[in-house]
Amino acid sequence: VRNGIEFAVADLSLAEFGRKEIRLAEHEMPGLMALRREYSEVYPLRGARISGSLHMTVQTAVLIETLVALGAEVRWASCNIFSTQDHAAAAVVVGPHGTVDEPAGVPVFAWKGETLPEYWWATEKMLTWPEGQAPNMILDDGGDATLLVHKGVAYEQAGVVPAAHDDDPEEWKVILETLRASLAEDATRWTKIAEQIRGVTEETTTGVHRLYQLAAAGELLFPAINVNDSVTKSKFDNRYGIRHSLIDGINRGTDVLIGGKVAVVCGYGDVGKGAAESLRGQGARVIITEIDPICGLQAAMDGYQVARLEDVLGQADIVITTTGNKDVVTVEHMAQMKHQAILGNIGHFDNELDMAGLARYPGVRRINIKPQVDEWVFPDGHSIIVLSEGRLLNLGNATGHPSFVMSCSFANQVIAQIELFTKHKEYDREVFRLPKKLDEKVARIHLEALGGELTKLTKEQAEYIDVDVEGPYKPDHYRY
Ligand code: NAI
Repeated sequence: VRNGIEFAVADLSLAEFGRKEIRLAEHEMPGLMALRREYSEVYPLRGARISGSLHMTVQTAVLIETLVALGAEVRWASCNIFSTQDHAAAAVVVGPHGTVDEPAGVPVFAWKGETLPEYWWATEKMLTWPEGQAPNMILDDGGDATLLVHKGVAYEQAGVVPAAHDDDPEEWKVILETLRASLAEDATRWTKIAEQIRGVTEETTTGVHRLYQLAAAGELLFPAINVNDSVTKSKFDNRYGIRHSLIDGINRGTDVLIGGKVAVVCGYGDVGKGAAESLRGQGARVIITEIDPICGLQAAMDGYQVARLEDVLGQADIVITTTGNKDVVTVEHMAQMKHQAILGNIGHFDNELDMAGLARYPGVRRINIKPQVDEWVFPDGHSIIVLSEGRLLNLGNATGHPSFVMSCSFANQVIAQIELFTKHKEYDREVFRLPKKLDEKVARIHLEALGGELTKLTKEQAEYIDVDVEGPYKPDHYRY
């Protein structure tokens, strides 16, 4: 605590550097800056206490300060142990008008290279407001904040936190331990928090998937807005963001020439499409693996070979997972990969790669090359290079998506926060999407910033295709 602000960051003296990058990012984030202008005298988030769990990057700093500009109080943690940019975290704590000695910003609990217990400590801290207050909004990426609240409530109702099984994933054991300690302190803590929460806005495919599962089971405790499936989020961030940040991560991690190499991309959804384009753009020969015939056919039409991982492992110099699924690359696959082949994941969780199995593989040795780059040497002497310990490598080895595309995503986040905070009574405990009109608004701002000029419909044309001159221009079932 300094100057009344709680925080846990790597080094507050990095704030000046962070502030300079935030200043540059603001210009590249026209969506967020337009929302600041639009609501400059209205403060629609006044009274909002937002607990945010999302990669603590420079771009997120601009998001946080936009929420504050709109009247919210905010506490923040990262949603991944490697994704924090320490200078951004420091700058957010210090705030635009504070100093290192007298910070005047936002409580942040995030640093690059957290352990799992530290990560869940930070998540809990971000949800724990001072003076008996509770958050009334969650902004989530991947659903960890939402998960902690839901599990906390469930175990409070059951009166006990279940014991972990030996074969449970390490992270699950940490979550149970965190909740056990928390319940011992206050047996109704998560229930009290859940009662206050008006809603959650969720950033990514994997978190949205969890929300739909909760809603289908009738267990969702508050309404949710699926930000990911705004067109101006998933069709831009997941695709064009990845197109930029995937090779950025590979380059910073390895500096291996991508041109001429064979790269396998597992999954051809939005992220996979961006990943394949990113690697092809560098001159790699890209092979796609898919389970869905539609996405597989899309890959084929886009000119990629579609194959099974087992059948192409012998050729692959780079293997990247983008599926949001688990056990996609098993330890048996890893053992068959070429010498010094690069393996990385860009899906939300690290369970796409069997990292636990790799660590247990008889005779395997891990040589740390530098932070977030490990060479794993098999007993036969051949090795593979694993990026970010199997966690999303674009944020672990590089700095994630660039500002402009995050401005699209985060403009949707801010709009969704305003919507749920101000109109929560109109929403049931289900998962909603933002109306297309707002999607088009976000797109319009960013297209204008790029100097794009739209053609205006005539009244007759609008009638002919049965839309309003001012939009929305497509029916909800249109897929883009
Ligand atoms: P998506 O659902 O559009 O694509 C995933 C694709 O993987 C689907 O086409 C699915 O059929 C395929 N798939 C599933 N299991 C497979 C398997 N065993 N083998 C091969 N293919 C398989 O999802 P999206 O939006 O592309 O997101 C993917 C993941 O990336 C999610 O976890 C999401 O949260 C994460 N994400 C990460 C970002 C980052 O910056 N690293 C940015 C955006 C999303």
